[in-house]
Amino acid sequence: MARKVILTGAGISAESGLPTFRDPKGLWARFDPMDLATPEAFARDPAKVQAFYNDRRAAARAAQPNPAHLALAQLQRARPDEVLLVTQNVDDLHERAGSTDALHVHGRLDEARCDSCAHRWPAPARMAAGDRCPACASGLARPAVVWFGEVPEHLDKVAEACSRCDLFVVIGSSGTVWPVAGLVDIAARAGAQTVEINLDPSVRAGAFDRVLAGPASVRVPEWVAQVLAGRFKL
Ligand code: OAD
Repeated sequence: MARKVILTGAGISAESGLPTFRDPKGLWARFDPMDLATPEAFARDPAKVQAFYNDRRAAARAAQPNPAHLALAQLQRARPDEVLLVTQNVDDLHERAGSTDALHVHGRLDEARCDSCAHRWPAPARMAAGDRCPACASGLARPAVVWFGEVPEHLDKVAEACSRCDLFVVIGSSGTVWPVAGLVDIAARAGAQTVEINLDPSVRAGAFDRVLAGPASVRVPEWVAQVLAGRFKL
């Protein structure tokens, strides 16, 4: 059972060139999430929603992991079975950095799923409104991402891990999207050390024992080096 839980958000991929959501130039500053990231938006205008996620899939494919993704993969290799990596990101930069078994609580851009039968398959580069499910032939193929109003994936497993962990670290998340933003409270109740690594302290910074402020590409490799050298103390 992993005793260290690391949760990443859009901030860890920012220096790979992928926009975050809530920074001044973030996606939700330019687009209304209610038009693009809800089941109702998909029902209303599936072509618009597919086009948005096609662009994001293309951007994710063109991006490369940065030193923060690589450092977390190094930590997982050095401490097999000790670290549970959880991400809110729909890109695959953790996997391409060498991490295995990252739990994508908000789904993945490189998978498609059927809104009718829940079948999943590798997403093509571009999806279109009315794409058919290869299993049940419904025209309800969609990106396998979690939208507002939908339940995050793997939540029971992640909450259980948080309730037993001794270290909980959040990297590059604004802490505004629930229920994921509440995982720190579960970890804290379990007596875990809690650390936030973020460009600036987030709205949930007060819930953490320690905040390491700065860019993930710098702060995460520094922190991993300290952990591996046995020098990370709260
Ligand atoms: P946000 O965009 O809400 O927050 C990103 C955080 O990363 C902010 O606190 C930034 O300050 C920080 N940040 C930016 N650049 C950074 C860097 N170089 N190094 C470290 N930190 C940096 O992203 P999330 O919290 O991941 O869900 O967003 C959570 C969810 O909201 C997403 O999964 C998505 C979105 O709506 C859905 O689409 C359902």
